[in-house]
Amino acid sequence: MSEKKISSSSTAEYFSKNLQQVGFSSQTKAVLTTLKEAVDNALDACEEHELLPEIKVEIERLGSGSIKNSERIRVMVEDNGPGIDADDLPKVFGEYLASSKFGRGRCTRGQQGIGISAATTWAQMTCAQGAKVISKTKAMRKAVSAVIEVDIKNNKGVMKKRETIDWDRAHGTQVEFVFDGRVQVNGEAGLLNYLLGTSLVNPHLTLHYKLPDQENVTIERVSKDVPAIPDATEPHPHTMKLGEFIAHSHLYGRVKVSAWLKKGFSRLGDAVFDEICKNKDFGLNKAFFERNVDQLSNAEFEKLFSAIQ
Ligand SMILES: Nc1ncnc2c1ncn2[C@@H]1O[C@H](COP(=O)(O)OP(=O)(O)OP(=O)(O)O)[C@@H](O)[C@H]1O
Ligand SMILES: [Mg+2]
Repeated sequence: MSEKKISSSSTAEYFSKNLQQVGFSSQTKAVLTTLKEAVDNALDACEEHELLPEIKVEIERLGSGSIKNSERIRVMVEDNGPGIDADDLPKVFGEYLASSKFGRGRCTRGQQGIGISAATTWAQMTCAQGAKVISKTKAMRKAVSAVIEVDIKNNKGVMKKRETIDWDRAHGTQVEFVFDGRVQVNGEAGLLNYLLGTSLVNPHLTLHYKLPDQENVTIERVSKDVPAIPDATEPHPHTMKLGEFIAHSHLYGRVKVSAWLKKGFSRLGDAVFDEICKNKDFGLNKAFFERNVDQLSNAEFEKLFSAIQ
């Protein structure tokens, strides 16, 4: 018998050891990624609530960092988005794979529930400080301020120093990280390029930014059109593997194959089914599409899957 004991680790433990996989692969990337994750979240939140975004960014050098050749950096991002309920703050900033954007079939900048918790982890690992957050929703008379840390062993957010404060905003979120990194302002991978690119592709954004040793800059929005929320789309079998295709059918219970394909996927309809029936190589006929999907064998699913590919 082997003496080895099998143990398991938490999602947060995995990411804390592999932060390079999610954008923290160098000192300069740490600054850019932290900024981008916070700005992406601000833009997504405004878009979701059909608000014209106004975002303020501050990046400051505070001195030398604890890692060799690093600087201590402060990144602050403030938005006029919907704000976050106080009870959700630990989930948002301190728990991996916690998101409001899973499985909606809709295009958003963020998708995974990883980004901002990774920024918190980097700050915590390099400077022993979590994310400092202020947030206010329309329903709140005052704002909530707190520090959120990641409990890495348990993949849970921990809220500390929670206070109710006055904040002269109707709603919004401000997040601040202090961590070790290096500021690169110019060049293709520089902060300026990112900020200018972001305002270019978001003409409805008013962006205020302050970079180290530079003046405050404001780029006013050039459009007052709030972007339309993209429609959710169903997947297409081209994006799936056989196992996913079969698992997808389980969500629909007892329905006809044709109904499942039409409802559960984009761009599949009678014209496609007719084409498949015409091609004798597939060995599928009209009666096949009238059968109940919960009665298909794996071999039949595979035939159908190949025909649709
Ligand atoms: N500034 C904000 N205002 C309002 N809600 C926010 C804000 N930042 C984050 N959230 C909420 O917190 C959730 C988690 O954010 P997080 O960045 O971890 O994941 P994500 O944006 O869904 O995906 P990704 O990992 O790809 O960034 C978001 O889905 C959103 O609901
Ligand atoms: Mg995000």
